[in-house]
Amino acid sequence: MKVLVIGAGGREHVLAHKLSQSPLVNEIHAIPGNDAMLDVAIIHTEIAETDHEKIVTFARQNEIAWTIIGPEQPLTEGLTDKLQAADIKVFGPNQDAAQIEGSKLFAKQLMEKYKIPTAEYKEITNKHNALQYIESCEYPVVLKKDGLAAGKGVIIASNYEEAQAGVETLYPEEEGVVVFEQYLEGEEFSLMTMVNGDYAVPFDCIAQDHKRAYDNDQGPNTGGMGAYCPVPHIDESILKRTNDDIAQPIAQAMVKEGYSFFGVLYIGAIITADGPKVIEFNARFGDPEAQVLLTRMESDLMQHIIDLEAKAPINFEWKDNAVVGVMLASKGYPGQYEKGHQVSGFNLNGDYFISGLKKENDVYITSGGRVILALGEGENIAKAKDNAYEAVDKIESEGLFYRKDISNKAIK
Ligand code: AMP
Ligand code: GLY
Repeated sequence: MKVLVIGAGGREHVLAHKLSQSPLVNEIHAIPGNDAMLDVAIIHTEIAETDHEKIVTFARQNEIAWTIIGPEQPLTEGLTDKLQAADIKVFGPNQDAAQIEGSKLFAKQLMEKYKIPTAEYKEITNKHNALQYIESCEYPVVLKKDGLAAGKGVIIASNYEEAQAGVETLYPEEEGVVVFEQYLEGEEFSLMTMVNGDYAVPFDCIAQDHKRAYDNDQGPNTGGMGAYCPVPHIDESILKRTNDDIAQPIAQAMVKEGYSFFGVLYIGAIITADGPKVIEFNARFGDPEAQVLLTRMESDLMQHIIDLEAKAPINFEWKDNAVVGVMLASKGYPGQYEKGHQVSGFNLNGDYFISGLKKENDVYITSGGRVILALGEGENIAKAKDNAYEAVDKIESEGLFYRKDISNKAIK
């Protein structure tokens, strides 16, 4: 069958790569895709991810059996609804259900109502009240803008001055919605859960991302600077508790509230003294979590999607090897950065996934903040890490930086 992948990043690159290995799939299209996907997909950079009408027309004319949507924006803007209205199957939730990622407040209210463990919060809808609130709140406090922010709408303030600066940033005008959250202490992990209504099947392999820009979790939040899986020091009992206390109840809560979620629900959780608590939900695969998880996955993703649709048993199979991925980003990211730096030295055999490169006159140049994820596999995390950094060393470019400590939490 023919499959269409929506998106242009490293997550979509690995999705296309993984789907190309499925005996069920014989043609893969990507809209808009990126130049590095050419080995595994037919790319359509002339169609924008936001041009829903053109995407629907394309899918109809090309008899696409399944569309798999990578990024959050088309989900929250209702691309799924439009494709489904044209009788095209979509892996990725509709606009109503995607609010679980699109609105922090929506997610918080749902968790509160159904007693799903998460940080305590307060919604504040104007700057004046926010400034008053931070005079007497407990520190650190976490400020989250309502709405999509590519991992950059969260400010952790350790004191009043930082909170004040955060309020200035997150309320450009007097009115606006910001969620103020209790700061949770503990280790974070990401659990991808395949959800069809009340049928929720978590991956039995978790991943760990590295959200801060610099080593030792310093610097600003980013979309993710590297990931690895499995996470050997977070044991089965945590996975079971996350399934019992978070994955199953949230799937049921959505059904009870009249939402029909079909796709991957990303559970970002933190292990507190009281057990795992939700930091965020995403309505899609994590990036770069998808790159390491789908590299480690041995079973057929397309088959899993079909089984999910039928609410049939899903049996994930994983390589014995661990996988570590190190993100190389443009110097300056997540702030301002230059584009157009030449990058070479990588291959397109599954050792690297590309998020911010385009081809010009036969060379690849940088075109985005996060640029390329270098992967390594090995019989344990330490060996996978060595191999990942060997892959990093092969990349030649002036314009990139990366963290040197990806996966260290699993090694020390
Ligand atoms: P989010 O966009 O909600 O995932 O937040 C980005 C990052 O900020 C998370 O990955 C955490 O590292 C951090 N963070 C968010 N909320 C909290 C919280 N309540 N307590 C501690 N850290 C948090
Ligand atoms: N890596 C975090 C995210 O995809 O939101």
